[in-house]
Amino acid sequence: MQSFIELENRYLADVYWKRPVVLVKGRGAVVWDSEGREYIDCGTGFGVALLGHCHPRVVEAIKKQCEKLLTCHGSFYNDIRAEYLAKLSKVLPRNLGKVLFSNSGAEAVEAALKIACRYTGKNGFIAMKNSYHGKTLGALAVTYGAKYREPFKQLIHSNVKFTPFGDASRVEELIDEETAAVIVEPVQGEGGIHTPPPDFLPALREICDRKGVLLIFDEVQCGFGRTGKMWAHQHWDVEPDILCTAKAVAGGVPLGITAAREEVMSALKRAEHTNTFGGNPLAMAAALAALEALVEERLVERAAELGAYFKEKLLVLKDKYRVVREVRGLGLMLGVEQRFPVVDVIIGALSKGVILLEAGKTVVRLLPPLVITREQIDKVVQVLDEELAKLEEAKIARKS
Ligand SMILES: Cc1ncc(COP(=O)(O)O)c(C=O)c1O
Repeated sequence: MQSFIELENRYLADVYWKRPVVLVKGRGAVVWDSEGREYIDCGTGFGVALLGHCHPRVVEAIKKQCEKLLTCHGSFYNDIRAEYLAKLSKVLPRNLGKVLFSNSGAEAVEAALKIACRYTGKNGFIAMKNSYHGKTLGALAVTYGAKYREPFKQLIHSNVKFTPFGDASRVEELIDEETAAVIVEPVQGEGGIHTPPPDFLPALREICDRKGVLLIFDEVQCGFGRTGKMWAHQHWDVEPDILCTAKAVAGGVPLGITAAREEVMSALKRAEHTNTFGGNPLAMAAALAALEALVEERLVERAAELGAYFKEKLLVLKDKYRVVREVRGLGLMLGVEQRFPVVDVIIGALSKGVILLEAGKTVVRLLPPLVITREQIDKVVQVLDEELAKLEEAKIARKS
């Protein structure tokens, strides 16, 4: 029998930067590899396992639903879907009265773009520099990274203007008679964990209202409690016309959600945008359990509290090491920007039992589960401390 690594390398498209580890089990903030080694997971599958791995309530709900009904197309009503919608509507921004389900973040964004086009009758978009909205063709059109866009430029929508994240007056200058919507991550994830200046999102809201342009918030990564509020945009007290979310919302099962103002969503006519799996009972049962766990276990509050604790510790590392340029983030969505590439730090931490993520070449991204403990955070910080010491030493040695 070939090893798991050999088999994946043999058959799977080579499109991921692979860590040389086979993960086989997870509970809470910890995952285990096939050799039985344990890791504290500050990557959570790029933000999916926000409730921790295999949250017991989610596992139980999935088991129960499996016995009952696994698939139910959107062309039929379904009990668990209706139940989830009722619960979800209680936590969505009040103005967002209608929901469309899909299976991923990119799909949630695709739907948002189509809804905006249909509602406004226009096809221009303004997106942010360093934005990340996914890699399907529509989402890719509003994703900034040239390395993702360039190979497919013949295929993607061209009426998109990119503008610096944080500069509302530039957005206003770029809005023209073709602009359907402005799309923005309230906290940029993939682009390096950037929080906007305090007046940015309120100013965007005001500009969009005045110009008759829709405002789309992509909370695929920063939503669902991650930043210490249910939705990241609540830090700035503004509401979007359309909200996209995914990743963590179903506790580890694929689910994309596009929520819109009722009037905006109603621009989409029957059959204009559907998909086979959206709103399937398995995802709905998992999402209902995930939402109940998030609220009843007060995990959003925990993200705020532990996020502040974590950030304080990271700021100590910033003062200690010149290789650290900046520590950023909100709640348990944190970034440590280095003056050098982060790959050695990530690989070094992995060998010491800590999973970290990158965000671009120079930012270590931390997306731990909200159930992480202070002791686990201390261990992560200790490992980062050791890895940064090694990096600093190597850089000093190279200079002298
Ligand atoms: C803000 C944001 N939007 C959209 C996406 C795309 O989500 P998916 O990978 O589920 O398609 C991501 C994924 O990282 C994301 O961070």
